[in-house]
Amino acid sequence: MISTYLNSGAGDRILKVNHAGEHGAVNIYAGQLLLARLRAGTMLAELAEFKAHEERHRSIFAGELERRVLRRCRSCWLCGTGGFLLGLFTGVLGPQAMATTTVAVERVVLQHLQQQLHDLGQADPEASRAISAIVRDEQEHHDRSAARAGSGGFLNRLLAAIVSGATEVVIWLGMRL
Ligand SMILES: [Fe+2]
Ligand SMILES: [Fe+2]
Repeated sequence: MISTYLNSGAGDRILKVNHAGEHGAVNIYAGQLLLARLRAGTMLAELAEFKAHEERHRSIFAGELERRVLRRCRSCWLCGTGGFLLGLFTGVLGPQAMATTTVAVERVVLQHLQQQLHDLGQADPEASRAISAIVRDEQEHHDRSAARAGSGGFLNRLLAAIVSGATEVVIWLGMRL
């Protein structure tokens, strides 16, 4: 992954992938919100707040893509559809599964954001600025959801492993599409 980032235009590629990822995050929360209305009313405010953050993140990256006259990533549809289905699925499972999903996604995302900042160095200050602008929110999503998810049982650990793995695959694909 590091070598991919270090190619010329590395910032462009990262911005595309991050834009697609934020689109996925918006859709995860959209799916969860739909079902939380029926099953987890206590989570509605938090889910709506997180979704609003993700919409802001998506618009930060969309703005950078627009400024650079770049198309969105080809993985965007996959992130949107996959995210929405994941949101619905975990929404059916309930509050702990929703929080577990956020922790699993954010753990992977935060690692990638740090790696991206490291790999970019001084090469693309605008890209680094866009990435830095979302880190605090993602950390907050992680921390608040970790408190809600608790340590969880076997099924939650399984869910976390699947979601982390899927997130890694989507980012890997996005860097190559
Ligand atoms: Fe985000
Ligand atoms: Fe997030």
